[in-house]
Amino acid sequence: MKIYLSALITLAICGMILAGSCKHQPDPYWSNIPRDTAGVNAPCDPNIVYFNKDIQPLLTSYCSVPRNSTTNARGCHDAISNREGVNLSNYNSIIKTGEVNGGSPSSGKMMESILKGDMPQSNWPQLSADQIALIQKWITQGAKNNYCAECDTAGYKFATGIFPLIDKSCKACHSGTSPSGGIMLTNYTEIMKVDTAVLRRAITWGNTTLSKNMPPSTKLMNCQIDNITKWINDGRKNN
Ligand code: HEC
Repeated sequence: MKIYLSALITLAICGMILAGSCKHQPDPYWSNIPRDTAGVNAPCDPNIVYFNKDIQPLLTSYCSVPRNSTTNARGCHDAISNREGVNLSNYNSIIKTGEVNGGSPSSGKMMESILKGDMPQSNWPQLSADQIALIQKWITQGAKNNYCAECDTAGYKFATGIFPLIDKSCKACHSGTSPSGGIMLTNYTEIMKVDTAVLRRAITWGNTTLSKNMPPSTKLMNCQIDNITKWINDGRKNN
């Protein structure tokens, strides 16, 4: 019995170690989500709106703001705050709690509140007409969990790769009169003010305070993290 018990305990500990090590596997966030297309590589079809590169970054930036660990201000539609029961931080929840219906770009809780102008709330950065049209195009095309890895190897240059990525995935929260965490990410000079180690930890989700992992609720794709890392290692140049 004693042997049996200690075997069980050993097994349990191994299980815990294994589960913990999963956090360090490459791209666990994106690779664990079942998809409608099996990872199309660049160049992506310009006529198709892709969930991973076009839609989730928008909904994360404009709608999924988490509770702020410094000011304790309430979060919005991230997985934890889940306001009004709506969680827009991942595909399944967007479809279910946002009531997104493929082919019906104006119906359901999420689209109705966007089109009425209720969301994002007026004190937050607003979606542009083009961004709303893009979301509607994605829904018209079936609201698929489709995927295209838009990561060419030259993408780590600031002007052509890093800035467009930060502009799309980070700017909505890190701009304006009260940027999140007091950090502006609107141009090269502002981006350079962020400490390298802090930036690295944030984009690789290396913080134990979960609200400091960026973008909150929705991890960047591995190849995007690689590109930012290459740019950092190359001296964070304005190239
Ligand atoms: C949905 C809103 C939102 C988006 C999108 C977002 N951030 Fe943040 N960011 C925050 C908030 C809120 C904080 C403050 C979190 C805290 O202090 O707990 C923060 C803090 C940070 C910090 C400081 C972390 C620390 O350790 O203090 C860095 C660096 C950062 N963000 C970079 C980024 C980058 C790079 C992106 C895009 C890849 C991004 N953020 C996208 C809301 C956002």
